[in-house]
Amino acid sequence: MHLTIAGTGYVGLVAGVCFAKVGHHVTCVDIDEKKVEMLNKGLSPIYETDLQEYLQEGLEKGLLHFTTNYREAYKSPDVIFIGVGTPELPDGSANLSYVASVARQIAENVERDCLVVVKSTVPVGTNDKVEQFIKDSLVHPVRIEVASNPEFLAQGTAVHDMMHAQRIVIGVEDKHAEGILRELYKPFNLPVVAVSRRSAEMTKYAANDFLALKISYMNDLANLCELVGANIEDVALGMSYDERIGSRFLKAGIGYGGSCFPKDTKALQYLATQYGYNLRTVSAAVDVNNEQRYKLYRKACNRMITFNGIKVAVLGLAFKAGTDDLRESPSIYNIPLLLDQGALITAFDPVAEENCKRQYQFEMQYASSVEQALTGSQVCFIFTDWPEIRSLSPSVFKQLMRTPLVYDGRNLFNPRAMLEAGVEYYSIGR
Ligand code: UDX
Repeated sequence: MHLTIAGTGYVGLVAGVCFAKVGHHVTCVDIDEKKVEMLNKGLSPIYETDLQEYLQEGLEKGLLHFTTNYREAYKSPDVIFIGVGTPELPDGSANLSYVASVARQIAENVERDCLVVVKSTVPVGTNDKVEQFIKDSLVHPVRIEVASNPEFLAQGTAVHDMMHAQRIVIGVEDKHAEGILRELYKPFNLPVVAVSRRSAEMTKYAANDFLALKISYMNDLANLCELVGANIEDVALGMSYDERIGSRFLKAGIGYGGSCFPKDTKALQYLATQYGYNLRTVSAAVDVNNEQRYKLYRKACNRMITFNGIKVAVLGLAFKAGTDDLRESPSIYNIPLLLDQGALITAFDPVAEENCKRQYQFEMQYASSVEQALTGSQVCFIFTDWPEIRSLSPSVFKQLMRTPLVYDGRNLFNPRAMLEAGVEYYSIGR
């Protein structure tokens, strides 16, 4: 099939290279000329396992093509995917202006019957609006259908998540659109769940918000564990053998970050409010997360008389391991608090350093290794679960730090081993 994909961010780019991988002809459109030029040379603007390799393979086979020429790209494909961003607005609602501008461009340029598929995460009812908008603005007399196909990939494992998805959710209003999407996904050989458009839109939020809720529940329990003298890791282990609960997303820590959970929890809350409904479960998850971010900092404030002039090692900037993304990362909330108090910070992150320098003008030093960041420091904060940090021997903190005082937001170390190594160690819920 011939596909056009609007947007070359995480969602659009990964979908594009994976559809090309299974033999479809794919044109990806983006307004960013530099990015398009890079992509046509086989260089991925984001770091993701296998992405660069699949990208180059698609280009070499002539199945993949990047362009800024949307007029040409929307003219006559079989299917157009909308994979542009829907960032959060100040009130928590989703910004749909990118989706709307693509819809307008499609309406003005499409010259044959076509299925438009919304892959971006959009509030329930948006697909209906997109369909109406395109139909109302069509320049050529063609038949346009709109389907929803939410994306469930996680950063760091995006290509794998798309190639081996546990399910493909499609939201369709008739058998014709369903047939096209089933055909398109046939080479992936994955279970397809076909539901109504509104149910598909809702499924995306429901799945993400459930995972956010699961994490906030564990964080809430972790705080209680500390008070009653239980260990959240042991509690999670005991829970995990129950197949109804499952073993994943039970890790307590310094709160979830990233582009999806913070945005999608607020978007669903906002949507509920629009209908006069108070979505209490999700509100609770958001509240717990907002507080959890500052958990370590508060613990440290209880222990320290001042941070003024204190050498602080910050280990990890990214919102999770395996990505250079800093969006809603706990580090970004905590660093300004430490700096305001006069802390002298040296930060280490294996891949997010450049992003941090570009996006934030924090008055701090950057180290090229964990060891360099720790050397001579008086307090250490761990914000990301990078293997480089996890694999450290407890004795390293004792040897390199001036005073071995460690605040671990990811529970990467065994408290007993840290104690035996002579490290004063604080983690979450144990
Ligand atoms: C998530 C969903 O997993 C994905 O399906 C959806 O499409 C987009 O949002 P992502 O944001 O890339 O993906 O990362 P994920 O691995 O889910 O982690 C999100 C946040 O939760 C991270 O900050 C992570 O550190 C945190 N987390 C995750 C926990 O604190 N505890 C856990 O047990 C799991």
